[in-house]
Amino acid sequence: MDVTRERAAAVLADNWLGSSTVPSRGLYPHQWSWDSAFIAFGVRHLAPERARLELLTLFSAQWRDGRVPHILFNPDTPPEAYFPGPSFWHAGRTSGLVQPPVHARAVLAVHEAEPDRTFLATLYPKLRAWHEYLHTHRGRGGRGLAAIVHPWESGMDNSPAWDAPLSAVTPSAGFVRRDLQHGAAADRPSDEDYGRYVRLAADYRDSGYQDGAGFVVEDPGFNALLADGELALAEIAEELRLPAAAAGHREAAARVAKALQDTLWDSASGWFFARDVRTGTRTREYTCAGLLPLLLPDLAVAPALLATATGPRFRLGRVHGVPSHDLTAPEFDPGRYWRGPSWFNVGWLVRHGLLRHGEHALAEHLRADLVETALRTDFAEYCDPLTGTGHGTRSFSWTAALTLDLLAQPAAVA
Ligand code: SER
Repeated sequence: MDVTRERAAAVLADNWLGSSTVPSRGLYPHQWSWDSAFIAFGVRHLAPERARLELLTLFSAQWRDGRVPHILFNPDTPPEAYFPGPSFWHAGRTSGLVQPPVHARAVLAVHEAEPDRTFLATLYPKLRAWHEYLHTHRGRGGRGLAAIVHPWESGMDNSPAWDAPLSAVTPSAGFVRRDLQHGAAADRPSDEDYGRYVRLAADYRDSGYQDGAGFVVEDPGFNALLADGELALAEIAEELRLPAAAAGHREAAARVAKALQDTLWDSASGWFFARDVRTGTRTREYTCAGLLPLLLPDLAVAPALLATATGPRFRLGRVHGVPSHDLTAPEFDPGRYWRGPSWFNVGWLVRHGLLRHGEHALAEHLRADLVETALRTDFAEYCDPLTGTGHGTRSFSWTAALTLDLLAQPAAVA
């Protein structure tokens, strides 16, 4: 094993709890939904049975309505280690929010690393129920897109895209932030944002986790991953010899992709923007979520989207990774969570999108940069796109896992 692979594998071994992996020992000491999917993409190269267990453990916490909770709490972690913990959510051993649906793609990838039809057959109905929850319970915008009801559901907590929809929320007070014990305050969301997250989560909990009221947004990143997830489900259904079901998943993917273009694409700007369902208005923030529809193979607007991504706002190919926010915006902050830094999962997803649209040279550049940055920053959670300096926690599981996955991919030929 070469040294990069060895170091990435060591991070994942240290963060493994026996049936799932913590994103990081200090900052995130439980199991997180989309983290587990990204972790499985890497762990499949080391120990496919561990990658299968990671995903099976997560889905063991699936709710009856189909939702896959964003956190599955580890009973052995002391309650004061993380806020908001299990006692906040009143939902047994889970939170009541969700995260982006990257799981079907992860399940398929784990199966590709080591074919296991029992694993596929076990998870296929659960994945279907998960997507069904999103299409129905979260389809209240009426345009064929799934809405998120909390910024944490986007996975991009303090993205500037949420500033406007969040502005009407009165922040909660009287709680203790645990994240600041493990991360520099300048790298984390502000106290005011945190207060709003807690208020929204408490209101959602108190409504019995019915459709959200205070924050209802259609996010291009979340929906691009849902459409891609439907394409992965189609492949899983084919593996399971269910051709009619596979056709249904392809149709669902096409419906979401069309809704994305009809509703969230702004041709004058050349970008996908989030839509606030309560006001019917699109936000005007160029964030990395707006680039994720590049994952969709039939995306007619891909050339215009790429022109924006390679222009001054994101400078794709000329900075480290994919900036989470517009480099030219006044609120761009190179170290603060999702307001500027480059995250490894986004870089990894965008590389896939580039490959799907024949952009091999750019994809290869991104791959080399991601691997180099991960190793140099000791697998940082995110990095400054302009200098490559690491920010956030270190020995971060998905950074290590996705590095392993990139090392296992053949180099793209330009
Ligand atoms: N990402 C959030 C946190 O920082 C919650 O999922 O804890």
